[in-house]
Amino acid sequence: MLKISIYSFFIYRIALYFLFTYNFFMDKSPDNIKKMFNDIASSYDFNNMVISFGLHKLVKKKVVKSIDFSGNVLDLCTGTGDIAGLISNNYKCNVIGLDFSIEMLKIAKNRYAHIDFIEGDCTNLPFANESFDFVTISFGLRNIENYDKALDEIYRVLKPNGKFIHLDFGKKNPIANVIYNFIVPKLVSIFYKNLVPYDYLVKSKKLFFDETQLISLFEKHLFNKVKTKSYLLGGISCQVMQK
Ligand SMILES: C[S@@+](CC[C@H](N)C(=O)[O-])C[C@H]1O[C@@H](n2cnc3c(N)ncnc32)[C@H](O)[C@@H]1O
Repeated sequence: MLKISIYSFFIYRIALYFLFTYNFFMDKSPDNIKKMFNDIASSYDFNNMVISFGLHKLVKKKVVKSIDFSGNVLDLCTGTGDIAGLISNNYKCNVIGLDFSIEMLKIAKNRYAHIDFIEGDCTNLPFANESFDFVTISFGLRNIENYDKALDEIYRVLKPNGKFIHLDFGKKNPIANVIYNFIVPKLVSIFYKNLVPYDYLVKSKKLFFDETQLISLFEKHLFNKVKTKSYLLGGISCQVMQK
Protein backbone atom coordinates (compact mmCIF):
# COMPACT_ATOMS: atom_id res chain seq x y z
CA MET A 1 0.00 0.00 0.00
CA LEU A 2 2.80 2.37 1.00
CA LYS A 3 4.66 1.47 -2.21
CA ILE A 4 1.62 2.37 -4.36
CA SER A 5 1.27 5.73 -2.56
CA ILE A 6 4.95 6.54 -3.12
CA TYR A 7 4.69 5.58 -6.81
CA SER A 8 1.50 7.67 -7.26
CA PHE A 9 3.15 10.62 -5.54
CA PHE A 10 6.13 10.51 -7.89
CA ILE A 11 3.98 10.02 -11.01
CA TYR A 12 1.84 12.99 -9.90
CA ARG A 13 4.95 15.18 -9.37
CA ILE A 14 6.47 14.15 -12.74
CA ALA A 15 3.18 14.85 -14.55
CA LEU A 16 2.99 18.30 -12.91
CA TYR A 17 6.59 19.01 -13.86
CA PHE A 18 5.96 18.26 -17.54
CA LEU A 19 2.64 20.11 -17.61
CA PHE A 20 4.20 23.27 -16.25
CA THR A 21 7.60 23.03 -17.93
CA TYR A 22 6.26 22.39 -21.40
CA ASN A 23 3.14 24.37 -20.69
CA PHE A 24 0.36 22.34 -22.14
CA PHE A 25 -1.96 25.08 -20.90
CA MET A 26 -0.74 27.69 -23.40
CA ASP A 27 -3.23 28.08 -26.21
CA LYS A 28 -1.56 29.40 -29.35
CA SER A 29 -4.49 28.72 -31.65
CA PRO A 30 -4.89 31.59 -34.16
CA ASP A 31 -8.35 32.49 -32.82
CA ASN A 32 -7.02 32.80 -29.28
CA ILE A 33 -3.98 34.85 -30.31
CA LYS A 34 -6.10 37.13 -32.50
CA LYS A 35 -8.58 37.70 -29.67
CA MET A 36 -5.80 38.41 -27.18
CA PHE A 37 -4.23 41.09 -29.41
CA ASN A 38 -7.61 42.59 -30.31
CA ASP A 39 -8.35 42.86 -26.58
CA ILE A 40 -5.05 44.50 -25.63
CA ALA A 41 -4.58 46.66 -28.76
CA SER A 42 -5.55 49.97 -27.11
CA SER A 43 -2.95 49.56 -24.36
CA TYR A 44 -0.30 47.65 -26.38
CA ASP A 45 2.06 50.60 -27.02
CA PHE A 46 1.86 51.89 -23.46
CA ASN A 47 2.40 48.40 -22.02
CA ASN A 48 5.44 47.92 -24.22
CA MET A 49 6.92 51.17 -22.96
CA VAL A 50 6.41 50.04 -19.35
CA ILE A 51 7.68 46.49 -19.63
CA SER A 52 10.72 47.42 -21.73
CA PHE A 53 11.43 50.67 -19.85
CA GLY A 54 11.14 52.35 -23.26
CA LEU A 55 14.06 50.39 -24.67
CA HIS A 56 12.15 48.40 -27.30
CA LYS A 57 11.77 51.56 -29.43
CA LEU A 58 15.49 52.21 -29.27
CA VAL A 59 16.32 48.64 -30.32
CA LYS A 60 13.82 48.70 -33.19
CA LYS A 61 15.38 51.96 -34.43
CA LYS A 62 18.88 50.44 -34.29
CA VAL A 63 17.77 47.31 -36.14
CA VAL A 64 16.08 49.30 -38.92
CA LYS A 65 19.12 51.60 -39.25
CA SER A 66 21.45 48.58 -39.52
CA ILE A 67 19.82 47.30 -42.72
CA ASP A 68 19.76 48.98 -46.10
CA PHE A 69 16.09 48.62 -46.97
CA SER A 70 14.97 49.21 -50.55
CA GLY A 71 12.33 48.05 -53.02
CA ASN A 72 9.30 46.19 -51.66
CA VAL A 73 9.23 45.51 -47.93
CA LEU A 74 6.69 43.38 -46.05
CA ASP A 75 6.42 43.75 -42.26
CA LEU A 76 4.63 40.69 -40.85
CA CYS A 77 2.84 40.68 -37.49
CA THR A 78 3.11 44.43 -37.87
CA GLY A 79 0.89 45.12 -34.84
CA THR A 80 0.66 48.87 -34.26
CA GLY A 81 3.18 49.44 -37.06
CA ASP A 82 6.46 50.31 -35.25
CA ILE A 83 8.78 48.57 -37.70
CA ALA A 84 6.78 49.45 -40.82
CA GLY A 85 6.75 53.11 -39.71
CA LEU A 86 10.48 53.22 -38.99
CA ILE A 87 11.34 51.65 -42.37
CA SER A 88 9.12 53.99 -44.34
CA ASN A 89 10.41 57.04 -42.44
CA ASN A 90 14.05 56.17 -43.02
CA TYR A 91 14.16 54.62 -46.51
CA LYS A 92 12.65 55.16 -49.92
CA CYS A 93 10.74 51.92 -50.37
CA ASN A 94 7.22 50.50 -50.61
CA VAL A 95 6.23 49.17 -47.22
CA ILE A 96 3.27 46.90 -46.51
CA GLY A 97 2.31 45.90 -42.96
CA LEU A 98 0.26 42.74 -42.38
CA ASP A 99 -1.48 41.47 -39.26
CA PHE A 100 -4.59 39.47 -38.43
CA SER A 101 -5.66 41.68 -35.51
CA ILE A 102 -7.98 44.34 -36.88
CA GLU A 103 -7.72 46.38 -33.64
CA MET A 104 -3.90 46.51 -33.80
CA LEU A 105 -4.16 47.51 -37.47
CA LYS A 106 -6.57 50.37 -36.67
CA ILE A 107 -3.87 51.92 -34.47
CA ALA A 108 -1.18 51.31 -37.09
CA LYS A 109 -3.31 53.02 -39.74
CA ASN A 110 -3.90 55.97 -37.43
CA ARG A 111 -0.19 56.36 -36.78
CA TYR A 112 1.00 55.92 -40.36
CA ALA A 113 -1.74 56.87 -42.80
CA HIS A 114 0.67 56.70 -45.77
CA ILE A 115 1.47 52.98 -45.26
CA ASP A 116 -0.60 50.11 -46.66
CA PHE A 117 -1.76 47.96 -43.75
CA ILE A 118 -3.46 44.71 -44.69
CA GLU A 119 -5.49 42.28 -42.62
CA GLY A 120 -4.10 38.80 -43.26
CA ASP A 121 -2.60 35.64 -41.83
CA CYS A 122 1.15 34.97 -41.99
CA THR A 123 0.47 31.31 -42.70
CA ASN A 124 -1.43 32.15 -45.88
CA LEU A 125 -0.01 35.34 -47.39
CA PRO A 126 -2.11 37.10 -50.05
CA PHE A 127 0.89 37.85 -52.29
CA ALA A 128 2.39 36.32 -55.43
CA ASN A 129 5.66 34.37 -55.31
CA GLU A 130 8.84 36.49 -55.25
CA SER A 131 7.10 39.83 -54.56
CA PHE A 132 9.36 41.27 -51.83
CA ASP A 133 12.98 42.32 -51.38
CA PHE A 134 12.69 42.24 -47.58
CA VAL A 135 10.38 40.55 -45.08
CA THR A 136 10.57 41.59 -41.42
CA ILE A 137 8.89 40.07 -38.39
CA SER A 138 9.39 41.51 -34.93
CA PHE A 139 8.10 39.85 -31.74
CA GLY A 140 5.73 37.91 -33.99
CA LEU A 141 6.91 34.42 -34.98
CA ARG A 142 6.77 33.31 -31.32
CA ASN A 143 2.99 33.80 -31.41
CA ILE A 144 2.36 31.74 -34.54
CA GLU A 145 1.23 28.19 -33.87
CA ASN A 146 2.20 26.91 -37.32
CA TYR A 147 5.55 28.71 -37.61
CA ASP A 148 6.74 26.22 -40.26
CA LYS A 149 3.94 27.31 -42.59
CA ALA A 150 4.71 31.00 -41.90
CA LEU A 151 8.40 30.44 -42.74
CA ASP A 152 7.46 28.63 -45.98
CA GLU A 153 5.26 31.59 -46.87
CA ILE A 154 8.04 34.09 -46.12
CA TYR A 155 10.38 32.11 -48.34
CA ARG A 156 7.77 31.94 -51.12
CA VAL A 157 7.04 35.70 -51.24
CA LEU A 158 10.71 36.76 -51.07
CA LYS A 159 12.58 37.44 -54.31
CA PRO A 160 15.76 35.38 -54.91
CA ASN A 161 18.46 36.80 -52.59
CA GLY A 162 15.73 38.68 -50.69
CA LYS A 163 16.32 39.16 -46.96
CA PHE A 164 14.33 37.95 -43.98
CA ILE A 165 14.85 39.85 -40.72
CA HIS A 166 13.66 38.27 -37.47
CA LEU A 167 13.65 40.13 -34.14
CA ASP A 168 12.56 38.87 -30.72
CA PHE A 169 13.67 38.38 -27.14
CA GLY A 170 17.03 36.67 -26.80
CA LYS A 171 17.86 34.15 -24.14
CA LYS A 172 21.55 34.87 -23.64
CA ASN A 173 21.27 37.41 -20.89
CA PRO A 174 20.48 35.90 -17.46
CA ILE A 175 19.96 39.40 -16.02
CA ALA A 176 17.33 40.17 -18.68
CA ASN A 177 15.69 36.82 -17.91
CA VAL A 178 15.47 37.67 -14.21
CA ILE A 179 14.11 41.15 -15.02
CA TYR A 180 11.45 39.80 -17.40
CA ASN A 181 10.50 36.70 -15.48
CA PHE A 182 10.42 38.10 -11.94
CA ILE A 183 10.72 41.88 -11.65
CA VAL A 184 8.51 43.03 -14.53
CA PRO A 185 5.54 40.81 -13.58
CA LYS A 186 5.51 42.62 -10.22
CA LEU A 187 5.62 45.98 -12.01
CA VAL A 188 2.89 44.93 -14.41
CA SER A 189 0.65 43.81 -11.56
CA ILE A 190 0.73 47.37 -10.18
CA PHE A 191 -0.56 48.82 -13.47
CA TYR A 192 -2.90 46.16 -14.82
CA LYS A 193 -5.79 44.07 -13.62
CA ASN A 194 -5.64 41.58 -16.52
CA LEU A 195 -2.33 39.75 -16.27
CA VAL A 196 -3.21 37.03 -18.80
CA PRO A 197 -1.47 38.66 -21.83
CA TYR A 198 1.67 39.33 -19.81
CA ASP A 199 1.65 35.84 -18.35
CA TYR A 200 1.34 34.56 -21.92
CA LEU A 201 4.31 36.71 -22.98
CA VAL A 202 6.57 35.35 -20.25
CA LYS A 203 5.58 31.74 -20.96
CA SER A 204 5.81 32.02 -24.73
CA LYS A 205 9.23 33.65 -24.36
CA LYS A 206 10.46 30.82 -22.12
CA LEU A 207 9.23 28.15 -24.53
CA PHE A 208 10.46 29.81 -27.72
CA PHE A 209 13.68 28.86 -29.51
CA ASP A 210 17.04 30.28 -28.57
CA GLU A 211 19.16 31.88 -31.29
CA THR A 212 21.02 28.70 -32.28
CA GLN A 213 17.74 26.81 -32.64
CA LEU A 214 16.23 29.68 -34.62
CA ILE A 215 19.10 29.71 -37.11
CA SER A 216 18.74 25.90 -37.56
CA LEU A 217 15.01 26.32 -38.07
CA PHE A 218 15.52 29.07 -40.67
CA GLU A 219 18.17 26.97 -42.42
CA LYS A 220 15.78 24.03 -42.49
CA HIS A 221 13.47 26.40 -44.41
CA LEU A 222 16.30 27.03 -46.90
CA PHE A 223 17.43 30.46 -45.66
CA ASN A 224 21.13 31.24 -45.36
CA LYS A 225 22.48 33.19 -42.41
CA VAL A 226 23.79 36.68 -43.25
CA LYS A 227 24.39 38.00 -39.73
CA THR A 228 23.04 38.04 -36.20
CA LYS A 229 23.08 40.88 -33.72
CA SER A 230 22.29 41.08 -30.02
CA TYR A 231 20.89 44.11 -28.25
CA LEU A 232 20.57 44.95 -24.53
CA LEU A 233 23.30 42.44 -23.68
CA GLY A 234 21.44 39.65 -25.48
CA GLY A 235 18.01 40.52 -24.06
CA ILE A 236 16.83 41.06 -27.64
CA SER A 237 18.32 39.35 -30.67
CA CYS A 238 18.05 39.79 -34.41
CA GLN A 239 18.78 37.32 -37.19
CA VAL A 240 19.25 38.44 -40.79
CA MET A 241 18.74 35.59 -43.27
CA GLN A 242 18.79 35.43 -47.06
CA LYS A 243 16.79 33.43 -49.59
C1 LIG B 1 3.70 41.05 -29.99
S1 LIG B 1 2.87 41.74 -31.36
C2 LIG B 1 4.22 42.44 -32.28
C3 LIG B 1 3.82 43.72 -32.98
C4 LIG B 1 4.97 44.48 -33.64
N1 LIG B 1 5.63 43.72 -34.66
C5 LIG B 1 5.98 44.95 -32.61
O1 LIG B 1 7.18 44.65 -32.76
O2 LIG B 1 5.60 45.65 -31.68
C6 LIG B 1 2.48 40.31 -32.30
C7 LIG B 1 1.50 40.57 -33.45
O3 LIG B 1 1.45 39.39 -34.27
C8 LIG B 1 0.13 39.28 -34.77
N2 LIG B 1 -0.03 37.88 -35.22
C9 LIG B 1 0.16 36.75 -34.49
N3 LIG B 1 -0.05 35.66 -35.25
C10 LIG B 1 -0.35 36.12 -36.51
C11 LIG B 1 -0.65 35.49 -37.74
N4 LIG B 1 -0.69 34.14 -37.84
N5 LIG B 1 -0.89 36.26 -38.82
C12 LIG B 1 -0.89 37.61 -38.72
N6 LIG B 1 -0.61 38.28 -37.58
C13 LIG B 1 -0.36 37.54 -36.49
C14 LIG B 1 -0.74 39.69 -33.60
O4 LIG B 1 -2.03 40.05 -34.01
C15 LIG B 1 0.07 40.85 -33.02
O5 LIG B 1 -0.36 42.08 -33.55
